[in-house]
Amino acid sequence: MQSFLSSSLFPPAAAKLVASVSVAAGTGARNSGGAVIAVVPRRSAAGGGGRCVAYASSSSPAVNTAEAGVVVPATMKAWAYDDYGDASVLRLDEAVAVPAVGEDQVLVRVAAAALNPVDSKRRAGKFKATDSPLPTVPGYDVAGVVVKIGSKVKSIKEGDEVYGNINEKALEGPKQSGSLAEYTAVEEKLLALKPKNLDFAQAAGLPLAIETAHEGLERAGFSAGKSILVLGGAGGVGSLAIQLAKHVFGASKVAATASTPKLELLKSLGADVAIDYTKENFDEQPEKYDVVFDAVGNKLSLAAERPTKQQTPSASPDNASSFWGSGQGEKAVKVVKEGGSVVVLTGAVTPPGFRFVVTSDGSVLQKLNPYLESGKVKPLVDTKGPFAFSQTVEAFSYLETGRATGKVIISPIP
Ligand SMILES: NC(=O)c1ccc[n+]([C@@H]2O[C@H](COP(=O)([O-])OP(=O)(O)OC[C@H]3O[C@@H](n4cnc5c(N)ncnc54)[C@H](OP(=O)(O)O)[C@@H]3O)[C@@H](O)[C@H]2O)c1
Repeated sequence: MQSFLSSSLFPPAAAKLVASVSVAAGTGARNSGGAVIAVVPRRSAAGGGGRCVAYASSSSPAVNTAEAGVVVPATMKAWAYDDYGDASVLRLDEAVAVPAVGEDQVLVRVAAAALNPVDSKRRAGKFKATDSPLPTVPGYDVAGVVVKIGSKVKSIKEGDEVYGNINEKALEGPKQSGSLAEYTAVEEKLLALKPKNLDFAQAAGLPLAIETAHEGLERAGFSAGKSILVLGGAGGVGSLAIQLAKHVFGASKVAATASTPKLELLKSLGADVAIDYTKENFDEQPEKYDVVFDAVGNKLSLAAERPTKQQTPSASPDNASSFWGSGQGEKAVKVVKEGGSVVVLTGAVTPPGFRFVVTSDGSVLQKLNPYLESGKVKPLVDTKGPFAFSQTVEAFSYLETGRATGKVIISPIP
């Protein structure tokens, strides 16, 4: 088995870095790769306001790391793969080099990570032309504690509890050393302080999905008083698109689709109308919307191609083949008002629909923190999880059924 220690891209330069760390209540000290991590008193995390700018006012100097006595080891446990393929290519590596920290980055001791479909598509080699070189430690979403800061980091300090999507552009050179590891190095601008009311597992599920929901709504020109149909309302992105549309943007009406057992959930998230896609074709309804937010893509066909309203085997929500396929945006454009927008997250696009790839931005998280801290917007963690770090392959397999409700979380790490 190849160890990342042999990769020049993973130099063991972080050996014996000494840093401070705060530990969430109940988590206790963690032993990382054999190194003892001493626990220092929790430092308060200032909140509110814009991205890192908001807590720039928190100008207390970094903890004297030598005094703090917290040792960041040279190597860490991480999930990795050396070749593209299905979930079986994943292996737990006990000796991956802890990533070096760039001048604009911080090193995060990972407490929890979340899985996203993009992790699976990347691992399958769907965008290998723009991927970073193998081997890869996967993982975009992270929540954890800052244990080291780069020389140009201004607003985040050691001990801060943060969360974020570590890859600014999801498909363009995502980091070789991701969040399914004990440590990950992240640009300051991609992180925000963790909402105080959320634990690490809850926070880890938010970044990529909520940034996608927010960016999609903004790009669609969504605003107060407009109506929206969210396709895939029970998924990681859809569950947040419903909540942001209703509770942040001020939608006049939110409709959303899911299978029968998830209709009440859609309502609880803020949907005024819950459409059971196993029983009715949303595109055959007379109602039209200002915006259609398509977080399903080809999975639309599961119901829409059925000859009757009765569920057939090919229409079964247990059929996961659609997880990987291309889109059927023409169904979505049928239900948008003239002059409206159709946001497409995956698959083919039919005009006037448009597709975008999310940009990670800590300022978006910071802007949304008050809604999260007030409970107006809630993280939705799939109840099959959180999965233990050792169960990451099972967690990926579950995500890839396409049936997850909200986010699939890996916690604690390790
Ligand atoms: N462009 C971007 O920047 C971007 C960003 C994020 C995600 N994405 C893509 O967007 C898609 C959704 O991501 P995600 O994280 O939300 O996925 P996810 O959490 O895995 O979505 C799972 C959900 O999809 C629902 N679903 C499946 N088929 C459906 C159908 N025909 N109609 C309605 N709901 C259906 C399932 O509900 P049921 O069990 O009820 O079917 C399940 O709750 C993925 O393809 C992902 O790669 C793109």
